[in-house]
Amino acid sequence: MDAFTYRDGQLHAEQVPLARIAEDVGTPVFVYSAGAIEAQYDALAAALADMKVGICYALKANSNQAVIRTLAARGAGADVVSEGELRRALAAGVPPSKIVFAGVGKTAGEMRFALETGIHQFNLESEPELELLNQVAAALGVVAPVAVRFNPDVDAKTHAKITTGKKENKFGIEIEQAKAVYARAAAMANIDPVGVAMHIGSQLTDLEPYRAAYRRMADLVRGLRAEGHDIRRVDLGGGIGIDYSGDHTVDLDAYAAIVRDEIAPLGAELLCEPGRLLVGNAGVLLTRTVFVKQGTAKRFVIVDAAMNDLIRPTLYEAYHQIVPVAEGASESPHPADIVGPICESGDYLGKDRPLPDVAEGALLAIKSAGAYGAVMGSSYNTRLMTPEVLVRDGDYAVIRPRPSYEELIGQDRMPDWLSPQQD
Ligand code: LLP
Repeated sequence: MDAFTYRDGQLHAEQVPLARIAEDVGTPVFVYSAGAIEAQYDALAAALADMKVGICYALKANSNQAVIRTLAARGAGADVVSEGELRRALAAGVPPSKIVFAGVGKTAGEMRFALETGIHQFNLESEPELELLNQVAAALGVVAPVAVRFNPDVDAKTHAKITTGKKENKFGIEIEQAKAVYARAAAMANIDPVGVAMHIGSQLTDLEPYRAAYRRMADLVRGLRAEGHDIRRVDLGGGIGIDYSGDHTVDLDAYAAIVRDEIAPLGAELLCEPGRLLVGNAGVLLTRTVFVKQGTAKRFVIVDAAMNDLIRPTLYEAYHQIVPVAEGASESPHPADIVGPICESGDYLGKDRPLPDVAEGALLAIKSAGAYGAVMGSSYNTRLMTPEVLVRDGDYAVIRPRPSYEELIGQDRMPDWLSPQQD
């Protein structure tokens, strides 16, 4: 489902004209479609239905509580990587029994909070973490349910900064060490090793790495069972890619077929951790043109969104489609760099993009901005963090308002050795 379509020459989010949101809320602003989020969840749930896979939404993709609740209402659990995310999941109404906690650097405080909350499982990434978790659980007099995340050493064939399943990545326990770590975990009084977990990277559009990695995971499970361990749970990770450019959609049935072939025969309880797949294409970043600067070599469309709002283009050379909100049917597109106001050459949203003539004040939509957009935002250059809006049918709600300058600047504190401002 593409929730963002033109009607009467105007780009809409579901039934709401984006121009209306820009008028009411101002720009830049992230706009999400609840219907698109639900449709993605339903598509994944349907593909995996026969295997009863628990879907733990990876909050890091978009942790606005309204988004989490939209998914939780559909039955989703949560994959969290910090106490902050755990608190967001709980505040949004995700039951603790559906929450898994991943991440290579969980602190004792975070472990304590998660144990007191009674989460479903810790995805364990190292031996020192195992020791600390055992100690923290012992101090609380509880037993921590643990899935050992192992690193299958498979190339996910995605961007280097978002690949996680190779030996040189910091994630998970090397497959050669997995059995020894598992045996150690099983011998600990306050650890209940319930199974294994894996995540090989993000934005995978080629499914073959999943097959290779799941095959290794299944071999490991059989090996662990042969050593007497009761492996009841397998966490498949996340990472299924979305279509950013309009020419390659991942076939969820093909993904499900790989799980069915490689993992389902193990007869374990299954979990997965999708983030981007559920929300990525359900959002746009709506921005207004400030100036158009025509150079001898380039046309620069300077907009009011910047790298602090959407860092993916400059951080990962990521491609996001950029389209005018008012359909310019008669004009022929010609190249433009769409850039923000930040004082860095890396502050761009798109380079050499075919775009019709846009006037100052014209609205543009930067597509596929629902995942790793707002959550990676900052207030660099003392810019206000971008607000977020959720659309459902013909209605919309501001789900995070734009802060005021007082709120932003008022965070700083003066040490008492600096004299107060002289009037
Ligand atoms: N599970 C684990 C253990 C993860 O590390 C991640 C993502 C996910 C699940 C969810 O992956 P997804 O289904 O969203 O691909 N900021 C980058 C993406 C970083 C992904 C980090 N881990 C980007 O903008 O492309």
